[in-house]
Amino acid sequence: KEFNFMHLSAGDLLRAERDREGAQANMINNFMKEGKIVPASVTVNLIKQAMEKAGWADRKYLVDGFPRNAENYEAFFSAMTGHCNVKRAIHFTCSEAILTERILERAKTSGRVDDNEETLKLRFATYRN
Ligand code: C5P
Ligand code: MG
Repeated sequence: KEFNFMHLSAGDLLRAERDREGAQANMINNFMKEGKIVPASVTVNLIKQAMEKAGWADRKYLVDGFPRNAENYEAFFSAMTGHCNVKRAIHFTCSEAILTERILERAKTSGRVDDNEETLKLRFATYRN
């Protein structure tokens, strides 16, 4: 078996789209700062574009940080049916205490608008819902 996946991070794609400073940039940044999930159509389009850019067909993808909710899941399948074949979903669990420790360490260098204690609480609340 071949384990040669192209890594597509939904969060990275959203940050890149925000940094292009187009029409959706402020909206994306606000959702991130508030720890909320960006409307799925935006995220799914970015994933689809990244797959198209990579040449689609003969590739395998690891879509990281996705789906985050039912809207993500449904939008993915409506956009991708006939284009791709989902083989596996991987779900990791980790305590909020460890996540907080790791993210606050990452915050020292990440420059991310959501790597701070206040946004973290909102992100955990979003995850729990
Ligand atoms: O996965 P990552 O930690 O990079 O996600 C950072 C933020 O990007 C999330 O808290 C959320 O605001 C946004 N995001 C999203 N939908 C996804 C992935 C990330 O809205 N599927
Ligand atoms: Mg990530």
